[in-house]
Amino acid sequence: MNISMKRILITGGAGFLGSHLCGRLIKDGNDVLCVDNFFTGSKSNIAHLIGDTYFELMRHDVTFPLYVEVDQIFNLACPASPVHYQFDPVQTTKTSVHGAINMLGLAKRVKARIFQASTSEVYGDPVVHPQPESYWGNVNCIGPRSCYDEGKRCAETLFFDYFRQHNLDIKVARIFNTYGPRMHPNDGRVVSNFIVQALKGEHITIYGDGQQTRSFCYVDDMIEGFIRLMNSADGLTGPVNLGNPIEYTMLELAETILRLSNSNSKLVNKPLPQDDPRQRQPDISLASTALDWAPKVGLEDGLKETVDYFRQIL
Ligand SMILES: NC(=O)c1ccc[n+]([C@@H]2O[C@H](COP(=O)([O-])OP(=O)(O)OC[C@H]3O[C@@H](n4cnc5c(N)ncnc54)[C@H](O)[C@@H]3O)[C@@H](O)[C@H]2O)c1
Repeated sequence: MNISMKRILITGGAGFLGSHLCGRLIKDGNDVLCVDNFFTGSKSNIAHLIGDTYFELMRHDVTFPLYVEVDQIFNLACPASPVHYQFDPVQTTKTSVHGAINMLGLAKRVKARIFQASTSEVYGDPVVHPQPESYWGNVNCIGPRSCYDEGKRCAETLFFDYFRQHNLDIKVARIFNTYGPRMHPNDGRVVSNFIVQALKGEHITIYGDGQQTRSFCYVDDMIEGFIRLMNSADGLTGPVNLGNPIEYTMLELAETILRLSNSNSKLVNKPLPQDDPRQRQPDISLASTALDWAPKVGLEDGLKETVDYFRQIL
């Protein structure tokens, strides 16, 4: 084994972001252990890595302890879209909270550096725009999204308590909307929804008046941010926002997708779901100064790749 090669555990490694991270870390010459219970992830996401000497796959649920020897841990395990995390909300909170406790315990035992995939959802329905890391958020603790939002908030608390109490080497990323190939086709997220509806010639569902905005980061940019944060200087704990600050309205997004997929689908309006934030936009100044990171892939280029992917799998 090469001395610079790291043994890296990725929980949720068979999911959308996890599978891209596994591929990137293998390409960079590391020894990767992918752990997943396949709740929303799939073997097809990592099929291209099976057979690689430095890739190992383990079916395991992070709500149970895990004993392995590794140098770094990326903790990504958790369903990420409302349809999936609301399917079994108690399990969602357990995955975030027990999963964090188990992975932090492992990191402490083996003295590994540990990265947490946190989320912009910790800001809830923000009253500050754009959201800097110093903003404490506006979260409903008893609503249908709370299992995810509060689970992720508690996971952050645990990371910082392990840091303060045990001097653990932590890196916390707050991830904003990310899209790209291998997104789940039925995850109910706006990019995959619109693309699937456009490719099938179905009506495109716009919630509310379509003027609410979102910012979208292409997966390759996000993975680059993960790697930079994980390998950043000692003591940079985060949280660090990672996302693309350029905002688009839902109407603009729908129209771009219709054009790129040559679709004749019609736009139809439906009421806004409960607790749906009207606007969310990352302030990425910290990532820019501390990690020299900024997204590079434009929405149109990223959407082209994503539409091609969905065309293949549908
Ligand atoms: N994609 C985004 O836009 C986004 C935004 C913010 C935060 N995140 C965070 O990034 C991480 C990855 O998100 P994603 O978009 O790749 O979602 P995903 O659903 O594709 O991936 C999550 C993976 O975790 C696995 N998993 C779920 N529960 C598990 C458990 N108990 N034990 C083991 N594995 C389990 C799933 O099977 C799946 O492979 C999540 O923690 C999510 O909260 C993602």
